[in-house]
Amino acid sequence: MAKKTLHDLEVAGKKVLVRVDFNVPIKEGVIKDDNRIKAALPTLKYILENGGKVIAFSHLGKVKTEEDKVSKTLAPVAKRLEELLGKPVKFIPQTRGAELEAAVNELKTGEILMFENTRFEDLSPEGKKESKNDPELGKYWASLGDVYVNDAFGTAHRAHASNVGIASNIENSAVGFLVEKELKFIGGAVDEPKRPFVAILGGAKVSDKIGVIENLLDKADKVIIGGGMMFTFLKALGKNTGKSLLEEDKLELAKSILEKAGNKLILPVDTVVAKEFKNDVDFKVVSVDDLADDDMGLDIGPDSVKLFAKELEGAKTVVWNGPMGVFEMSNYAKGTIGVCEAIAHLSDAITVIGGGDSAAAAIQLGYADKFSHISTGGGASLEYLEGKVLPGVAAIADKSCGCGCSHKH
Ligand code: 3PG
Repeated sequence: MAKKTLHDLEVAGKKVLVRVDFNVPIKEGVIKDDNRIKAALPTLKYILENGGKVIAFSHLGKVKTEEDKVSKTLAPVAKRLEELLGKPVKFIPQTRGAELEAAVNELKTGEILMFENTRFEDLSPEGKKESKNDPELGKYWASLGDVYVNDAFGTAHRAHASNVGIASNIENSAVGFLVEKELKFIGGAVDEPKRPFVAILGGAKVSDKIGVIENLLDKADKVIIGGGMMFTFLKALGKNTGKSLLEEDKLELAKSILEKAGNKLILPVDTVVAKEFKNDVDFKVVSVDDLADDDMGLDIGPDSVKLFAKELEGAKTVVWNGPMGVFEMSNYAKGTIGVCEAIAHLSDAITVIGGGDSAAAAIQLGYADKFSHISTGGGASLEYLEGKVLPGVAAIADKSCGCGCSHKH
């Protein structure tokens, strides 16, 4: 059943607990990419403008030692949020306790506070309270607010205290606008695609993508494979892949996927090879039939880009997850750029990037505005593309069933 969304929730005068995913890259206190913060703004602004009092919180990285607390504080994130919102964000350097409780109780309508990294609770002597969804912690955080909004799509594949724990201990909950949008685009593309539906899967390893490949082979009209994992498929076809990435233990699986997929699965026909994993060495394009023993394939070649563009022609739904090559090195970025270009030229298609490296690639290469949706989730979007239930979403209250009952479904 569909989940309650922010529009289904009464926020005026309420203390609204908002789980966001502000797990952003930070180096020496400087935020390197604030897309996830920007993506949560519609939800936060809506609650503030509609008379809510916002208590925002997130995890940041993994917190394993006391020293981690120095680099994993959310203080710089609260500062950035304040700039983006254009209003004060009171930062409470605690995850529980008197200071936090007092600040929550002093919050006025239209004000926002943010508390410290939820994973600081993982250092508790009683165990990883946040990451293991400790019942006491979920209950405690739930007690701080009146209603709960989960807008942390990037963390929706985790069952932690700050999402599942709180949602299970509060009567009224909803997904925020970002989660709603992610579910609409990714879920819509996979479950109710306008056809033809073409999926493009890349990235280093077959093992990371097995579930996605299998789910999308069932649902898409074509599945295009690129990136490092292409070599395990090419090897399974009996080709020499030289020194390219190879997962020996996935060869049998690759064979069975190839058999099952028939002509639905499209593989590259050429690749850019070098002798070393470096940008400043000689490189050349070779057919996938002509790799030498010391060749390392680092990108798809130009004929593969043409082939993929042809397969994409006329597509009405495109889902892309995983770069086509080592796009971080300029000599091996052309395949990923070529795929970005091909998708950008599609008219009248819903185009979705399923987060992670491919989202980073599209943004870094300047194609961000060419897609219908770029997911903020890495692991979460992968699991959603696999067809798995996301616990962070599942725990949210269902929309009313219309039977007049007041209980959660
Ligand atoms: C992510 O970046 O994928 C999410 O924020 C989840 O982070 P995690 O993998 O540390 O749980």
